[in-house]
Amino acid sequence: MAAIAQAQPNIALVKYWGKRDATLNLPATGSLSITLDAPWTRTRVEFDASLRHDELRLNGAEDPAALARVSACLDLLRQRAGTARRARIDTRNHFPTAAGLASSASGFAALVVAADAALGLGLDRRTLSMLARRGSGSAARSLFGGFVGLDAGERDDGTDAIAQPLLDAAAWPLAVVIAVTSHRRKRVGSGVGMERSRRTSPFYPAWTHSAATDLAAARRAVQARDFAALAELSEHSCLKMHAVMQSSRPPLLYWNGATVDCMQRIRALREDAGEPVFFTVDAGPQVKAVCTPEAAPRVAAALAALPGVEQVLSSRLGEGARLLDDGETP
Ligand code: PMV
Repeated sequence: MAAIAQAQPNIALVKYWGKRDATLNLPATGSLSITLDAPWTRTRVEFDASLRHDELRLNGAEDPAALARVSACLDLLRQRAGTARRARIDTRNHFPTAAGLASSASGFAALVVAADAALGLGLDRRTLSMLARRGSGSAARSLFGGFVGLDAGERDDGTDAIAQPLLDAAAWPLAVVIAVTSHRRKRVGSGVGMERSRRTSPFYPAWTHSAATDLAAARRAVQARDFAALAELSEHSCLKMHAVMQSSRPPLLYWNGATVDCMQRIRALREDAGEPVFFTVDAGPQVKAVCTPEAAPRVAAALAALPGVEQVLSSRLGEGARLLDDGETP
């Protein structure tokens, strides 16, 4: 009753910020993302009748802080399998330290794929994606590779809030350059931040009302491989989300000076130098530049030259979560 799975993080171009149901973790806004090919999370799950509690190890060390969320997600799979067996979870993040990449997305995606196989459930991707969403909203998207859409849905049970693959990584092979501007842990996590925005930002209703239009337009841009349209929509969605964050009380100001400098540099690269590149920023100070693979080395060099940029990482687009062979250690 053991299996190993691998998943990669994804980066939203049309952002999810806010929940319409906190218990089922249903998003108030649909989103569109790209799955990366590196870094990865590898997770081994083993159900063992002799265990009294779930045991979680992250990068070789026990991680009691994350255990409750992981156990709650595993409970959903245990219910389906009709078992109460506890599990030993060994997960490894092959991530540069605190690079501000969404390890919860790859973490919960790898977890559900491994647990499904270990329990012999054989659930389809759609269902696995819904289960990963219960752990972390963005994790629903890491079940699929390339370009992925996640609808907000309307039904109370969330059966219409599902992620779907839109376009394979190979069909539009873009690159992502990540400028790390701080290695410090963020003060307010996304779950707490979203709830604060929902309760206090005067812009929140406008944000949720305009999201479906943005998502539909971004889907069209992806289908048409229209880089200019996707660039405009992505930067708009990112800045609109940050306007909601910044207008929350107390404010959620995730940027530092270098974050703003990177955004300005990326705009100048596109508008003055004609580089095919645009930015996006999540609930943290790192800047993700999405560009063509040819432009990636020039974008990386331009961002690395800015004061306050501590590290620059590059990735291509990758596949969704998958099972690994027994021999591939987590
Ligand atoms: O699902 P979470 O808790 O990882 O929240 C994701 C929030 C953002 O990264 C800011 C936006 C997104 O759609 O990924």
